Amino acid sequence: MSLETDFLIIGSGIAGLSFANKAAELGRVVIVTKKQKKDTSTNLAQGGIATVMGKDDSFDLHIKDTLNSGDGLCHEDIVEMVVKEGPNALDELIALGTRFNKSEGDDEAFDLGREGGHSKRRIIHAGDITGQEIESVLLAKAEAHPNIQILENSLSVDLIIESHSMWRGDVLWKMDSKCWGAYVLDEESKKVVSVVAHYTILSTGGCGKVYLYTSNPDIATGDGIAMAYRAGSSVSNLEFVQFHPTVLYHPNAKNFLISEAVRGEGGILIDRHGNPFMGNYHPLKDLACRDVVARAIDSELKNSGDDSVFLDISHKDADFLKGRFPNIYNKCLSFGIDITKEPIPVVPAAHYMCGGVSTDEWGRTDIDQLYAIGETACTGLHGANRLASNSLLEAVVFSKRVFIKCSEDFDKRSKNSLPIVSEWLFDKDKSEHRQGGTNNEFVLIAHDWDIIRRIMWNYVGIVRSNRRLKLALAHLSHIREEIEEHYNDAFLQRDMVELRNLALLGELIVKSALLRKESRGLNFNVDYPMRDDEKYNKDTVLKLK
Ligand code: SIN
Repeated sequence: MSLETDFLIIGSGIAGLSFANKAAELGRVVIVTKKQKKDTSTNLAQGGIATVMGKDDSFDLHIKDTLNSGDGLCHEDIVEMVVKEGPNALDELIALGTRFNKSEGDDEAFDLGREGGHSKRRIIHAGDITGQEIESVLLAKAEAHPNIQILENSLSVDLIIESHSMWRGDVLWKMDSKCWGAYVLDEESKKVVSVVAHYTILSTGGCGKVYLYTSNPDIATGDGIAMAYRAGSSVSNLEFVQFHPTVLYHPNAKNFLISEAVRGEGGILIDRHGNPFMGNYHPLKDLACRDVVARAIDSELKNSGDDSVFLDISHKDADFLKGRFPNIYNKCLSFGIDITKEPIPVVPAAHYMCGGVSTDEWGRTDIDQLYAIGETACTGLHGANRLASNSLLEAVVFSKRVFIKCSEDFDKRSKNSLPIVSEWLFDKDKSEHRQGGTNNEFVLIAHDWDIIRRIMWNYVGIVRSNRRLKLALAHLSHIREEIEEHYNDAFLQRDMVELRNLALLGELIVKSALLRKESRGLNFNVDYPMRDDEKYNKDTVLKLK
């Protein structure tokens, strides 16, 4: 089975949808999304979009804060470009109908929130459900567009790559690869469809599910990064996994974030005895950058043996809290926690992948016709630690830049006919067996999935050591090889594909962390506690040979 289109967009969050709505003015767009359209990280984003809007703010200050947070690894040209293009990107979202909170008593000005690492108030937000507001506006526009087809329950398995290879010594080098779309598993028919496209855009989000505890939705299994890596694209800076300091600690709360904006409005982190502790770690206390706060909590928990610390905002006016954080207020109340009266139990959890598929300033990967945007990409904006609320901004700015690049050669490219692509598997017997067979050992999948996530949490977490990283690599490489073997003769279904991607991501994260023999931003290694600018002031790049 095959389907032809001009643009194949994998993922339906802010990056993919922003791009889709523009690309649809040029040609045919297919968006594939592996669950329901709204099952995205965007939909869960609480904080907002960091953009220079305040009278006391400036591009220079936003640039400086981003660079500080990135701990020497941000690409300064990219930071400057994203920050300066921010206000226009925001205007575009507003023009589509997205509503953000306005200042009380001033309908002209936005209510600006503050988060860790920002020297000024500059977070544009829609209450504490900013992502949901943006997602529904972008989705409504995409659904109404005649050129856009959205395929739900459609999981991309691998990219369709045309590559020229040549031997150098005994190594086969892939040269001049081109991407022509992706093989997509339609979960309803259980068939793999070849979606053949002139342009393929990866916007599958991050890979928080590689850790036992995460703020991410279930879809965050690193599919885009894994597919790009397998196809021969470079991936960068995967050691920089951002742990959000404050995820609700409650047995029934799966992955509920307590936005950093709560600390921005005066929330204070305290221990079990009610003592504030951030003053012991950083002069900016509760509003220090995220890596600092997450490490401080980790240290408090390790020293005390407690299960959680607490975030207290109960000193603020109750009506203000209910108005500013309606989602957090109601969710906590549903678990019996009244944030207007008592502290919220919180722990850090994996939140954001600062690395990803390496791209240039136009979102281009090093495979022709393949682009990456949003959390899937590593553009150089975040460096070693993303500044809070810079990610939605990056997604909108880069989706526009990818669109501009595609527009330049769209007329020429779209006139060429698309190649005839071979079916998913050449071997018909195997294909039927894999697509309709029953050779699946579900217990193995569940077991491996659990082991990977525990290894990553215990050995590759907020504080790392060489010994733990090496142990993790030994375990993960073995598990990944086993999964690859099982994958090759198993009935193709979502859990298996995701497990294969997660195992690869785990291994790549550990390999990247082992290559960086220093502590910087989110990569803290007790064996190299200092930053080493002489050797490591550069991205960690991995590429399949
Ligand atoms: C938050 O609301 O704390 C999350 C914001 C972000 O991750 O940028």
